Amino acid sequence: MKEKKKWFQEAVFYELYIRAFADANGSGHGDFRGAIEKLDHIKSLGVDCIWVMPMYPSPLKDDGYDVADYYGIHPDYGSLDDFKAFLNAAHERGLRVITDLVMNHTSSDHPWFQEARQNPDSPYRDYFVWSDTNEKYQDTRIIFLDTEASNWTYDEMAKQYFWHRFYSHQPDLNFDNPAVHEEMFRIIRFWMDMGIDGFRADAIPYLYQREGTNCENLPETHAFLKKVRRLMDEEYPDAVLIAEANQWPEDLLPYFGDGDEFQVCFHFPIMPRLYQALKAGDKTPIVDIWKRTPSIPEGTQWMTFLRNHDELTLEMVTEEVRQWMWDAYAPEPRMRLNLGIRRRQYPLLEGDKRRWFILNAMFLSLPGAPIIYYGDEIGMGDNIWLPDRNGVRTPMQWSAEKNGGFSTAEKTYLPVIDDDTYGYQRVNVAAQEGDPDSILASTRFLIRTRQSQPALRSGEFEWEETGSTAVMAFRRVEGASEILCLFNLADSTKEIEADIRPDMVDLLARKQTVRRGGSTVILEPFAAHWFRAAA
Ligand code: NOJ
Repeated sequence: MKEKKKWFQEAVFYELYIRAFADANGSGHGDFRGAIEKLDHIKSLGVDCIWVMPMYPSPLKDDGYDVADYYGIHPDYGSLDDFKAFLNAAHERGLRVITDLVMNHTSSDHPWFQEARQNPDSPYRDYFVWSDTNEKYQDTRIIFLDTEASNWTYDEMAKQYFWHRFYSHQPDLNFDNPAVHEEMFRIIRFWMDMGIDGFRADAIPYLYQREGTNCENLPETHAFLKKVRRLMDEEYPDAVLIAEANQWPEDLLPYFGDGDEFQVCFHFPIMPRLYQALKAGDKTPIVDIWKRTPSIPEGTQWMTFLRNHDELTLEMVTEEVRQWMWDAYAPEPRMRLNLGIRRRQYPLLEGDKRRWFILNAMFLSLPGAPIIYYGDEIGMGDNIWLPDRNGVRTPMQWSAEKNGGFSTAEKTYLPVIDDDTYGYQRVNVAAQEGDPDSILASTRFLIRTRQSQPALRSGEFEWEETGSTAVMAFRRVEGASEILCLFNLADSTKEIEADIRPDMVDLLARKQTVRRGGSTVILEPFAAHWFRAAA
């Protein structure tokens, strides 16, 4: 007997940046009270779970991934009571809520680090990774290549170097110290006891350092993460633990363990390949990466995304493909950032609705639990002139009113997009409500259609031969529910041989047509079809 599916295997997630969403108190920063007022919008999309990006007290030099206090709420966003009210309001609407758990590092403002650097005898000294030289662990790559020259930074006060995999204001915690484990368990219990539904665990490949290795995916890291999972299973059995590990599929497999580590792991490499295949009109990159993706334990799931709050990372492609992707999607130097692209989804697709539709239909029917990034449900634009990744973190555009209806403040935390194409005056939720051709309506339609079909939610996956590299076909099957998904990645009509029986209903047939003549199927440019077999 197959196990019943877990909620997170079938869920669609919504990535919410509190600072960017809705400002209830006119401070220029989004807050939990504002987000509560917008929960009906999130619910209307048909998603199941909200991932709240870091909402902890923080200097916000890495937008909250630099945590200064694990037990609080950033004052700009509200109070713990506001967070609880948000959680309750989400739960009342049948929406689950997960938050980021940032275990790898703290902010240098965190009192642990401040005490550690000031007092060598403090127990907190050993919470971080120190060295008299900057020569250890030389085989470790630098992740933030644009800003960091080394993973070591000298601290004048401590008179030692400290280790950091990200910014030099984010000292890594020392997981060789059992006291750090205990701190993490306390933090996990604190938020879980408040009633959240799980965590997205940030940056988990890097918890340990060992000489002679690249300091990623080490056995010690897995041993600790299994302890975290055991705690979750024993105390919060319905919750989810999601691994953010930007790694190749074969290196990700150990993060599922034997079903005893993470229930869900981000699948980073599929993401750029969806864009690559669409631009090239050739399904090969998608087919190849799924062939390279191992099967995962029962009760687990991949997590997929098209865009998020970071740059569109090209770490998981070859150098040649990276250059090709930059040429194709980031022709201007300013569009490039680190090893990626600082643009949002709709501008990447040149605002072409056909491309948007096929990309999202592929994304929502391939295996995995998808995440929708706030703003992408209305095709929001970006501002490549803002520093770092801020260009894709601008205020949500609700209406054509001042600041896009996001805030009544004179100055918002970042300027709202107001260019000729993507400005809030044109691109906003209010303008798209009631327009059946809008990106918002199509987002709702695609998510709801997907979620109405068990086969699309988490069914078995199988490629179908089409005889054309431009035409991608696969079947999803769950019990009696069966869907044939068919996509023409080319900007030209394609004719293929396929057996689409007369009783099969195209769930996406709202706008599109497929001509069937015997076994010949004619696909429009960028056609997307989900054919349901009659039960
Ligand atoms: C991954 C997060 O997505 C990114 O925004 C952050 O900068 C790093 N982890 C460091 O925490």
